[in-house]
Amino acid sequence: MPEPPLLDTSVPHPARVYDYWLGGKDNFAADREAAEAGFAAWPGVLSSVRANRAFLRRMVGHLAVEAGIRQFLDIGSGLPTASNTHEVAQAAEPSCRVVYADNDPVVLLHARNLLASSPEGATDYLQADIREPGEILEGAARTLDFTRPVAVMMLGILHFLVAEDDPYGIVARFMAAVAPGSYLAISHLASDVNPDVMAEFTRSMHERGVRDRLRSRAEVGRFFDGLELLEPGVVLVSKWRPDSDLEVRAGTSLWGGVARKPAVRISSADCGGRTTG
Ligand SMILES: C[S@@+](CC[C@H](N)C(=O)[O-])C[C@H]1O[C@@H](n2cnc3c(N)ncnc32)[C@H](O)[C@@H]1O
Repeated sequence: MPEPPLLDTSVPHPARVYDYWLGGKDNFAADREAAEAGFAAWPGVLSSVRANRAFLRRMVGHLAVEAGIRQFLDIGSGLPTASNTHEVAQAAEPSCRVVYADNDPVVLLHARNLLASSPEGATDYLQADIREPGEILEGAARTLDFTRPVAVMMLGILHFLVAEDDPYGIVARFMAAVAPGSYLAISHLASDVNPDVMAEFTRSMHERGVRDRLRSRAEVGRFFDGLELLEPGVVLVSKWRPDSDLEVRAGTSLWGGVARKPAVRISSADCGGRTTG
């Protein structure tokens, strides 16, 4: 039996800080203090986290309904909240299969709420770290068929990876493991939107031990290298295919984008210029 993960409630953890901003109850005093300090530095954090969840809802809906995606790997899923990935996907198509992964032990404690699948589909939860792609891919393969397209979701997580973690290498590792026709969806805190406010926000998070690394639109765009970006490209999450003017007007400092892994090109020397996938 693996050791249960250690739960240290004396230091803030991103999942619980985020839960507090979303109005959830699965957080501790240290998380609330950090969340309040973050809000003092960046009052727009509240509308930003809501805009991020709305982006998730629209993006998963688009992939399930219009792109025909039936498998989702949601890494850094966060604590259960409104419109979890499997709820959105299975509302569109009940046979959708969803694997969640997060490194916060509190998410594990609440994971049963993420596992209430439709009878036709399936859900699973992995207590895992995105910096161990092999472990996540191996665990996810129990539920997902990696010979078929998968939507790899990394919403609000990559800004917790610093350069030494090799975030671009990690994303590339996941996208190398999925079939052509798979998708990558990212949302990421922006360094180049309200830069002074965001720098103060980051400083206040670092002071409390939450390490993060904000990135510019160009830096976020690099995560999609080699993939086909869907319209409208890398934009503020509130501007990614919004449903209403109200959504567009939501203040946010998160970049978001969705891209498709192209078919494998076989050179004409191999077989007359055919394309597979
Ligand atoms: C800001 S929340 C985003 C939650 C959800 N994806 C969303 O966008 O609404 C970030 C999540 O990433 C998780 N996380 C942070 N670093 C992680 C890591 N190295 N491995 C796995 N999960 C991580 C946190 O526990 C948290 O649940």
